[in-house]
Amino acid sequence: MFEQEFVRRGAKCYLRRVRPEDAEHFFRWYCDGRIQEHLANPWWNPRIDFDAYRLFRFSLYLEPSEFSGVLTICSLEGEPIGLVNYFDIDDQNKVCEVGIIIGEVRLWRQGYALEALRLLIGFLSREHGILSIQARILEENVASQKLFTKVGFVQTGTSREQDFAFLDYQYSVMSPIS
Ligand SMILES: CC(C)(COP(=O)(O)OP(=O)(O)OC[C@H]1O[C@@H](n2cnc3c(N)ncnc32)[C@H](O)[C@@H]1OP(=O)(O)O)[C@@H](O)C(=O)NCCC(=O)NCCS
Repeated sequence: MFEQEFVRRGAKCYLRRVRPEDAEHFFRWYCDGRIQEHLANPWWNPRIDFDAYRLFRFSLYLEPSEFSGVLTICSLEGEPIGLVNYFDIDDQNKVCEVGIIIGEVRLWRQGYALEALRLLIGFLSREHGILSIQARILEENVASQKLFTKVGFVQTGTSREQDFAFLDYQYSVMSPIS
């Protein structure tokens, strides 16, 4: 793996930059209703074909911008198992929002998301100087609410967008996680 691709390593998984060959994994996770039902994506189209997905969605993940990025979560054996994303970086206030998917459903409940989120917080705090991280979680997504709470996020309120109802969470970076 090229040094610049590697972002952060934990005891169970690591985060690295998205690679072109991740497209097939991302596509499978995108089409999986067991995952997407927990996300607020009004434009979800499980009938999209692979080439269209790769061209119009996945290609965006290959180019992190000033304001957002996606990282692939890999098992220590190197298998892509999910993704974390960060977006709406507010450089002045050092705030951003995050999301996570463990795409391999067979690996749910094994602590991967817990570790990957902690790795992401460390990355955002060290690389982007982020001081406050937000997450908006669908009201019915209890698994994710428990996950974020376990990481140290606290619920700050509720919000609505289109037909979706969210619980809003926030994590304050007191001191950077290394
Ligand atoms: C939510 C999600 C990321 C959790 O991933 P995971 O790797 O299974 O989570 P972990 O094993 O690290 O779990 C950490 C903690 O989260 C909570 N948790 C995770 N899944 C849970 C579930 N199904 N029910 C209740 N609590 C759950 C628990 O507190 C758990 O700790 P515990 O196992 O010691 O009780 C995964 O289920 C997923 O990708 N879901 C679909 C997409 C999604 O909802 N993303 C979040 C959008 S905001």
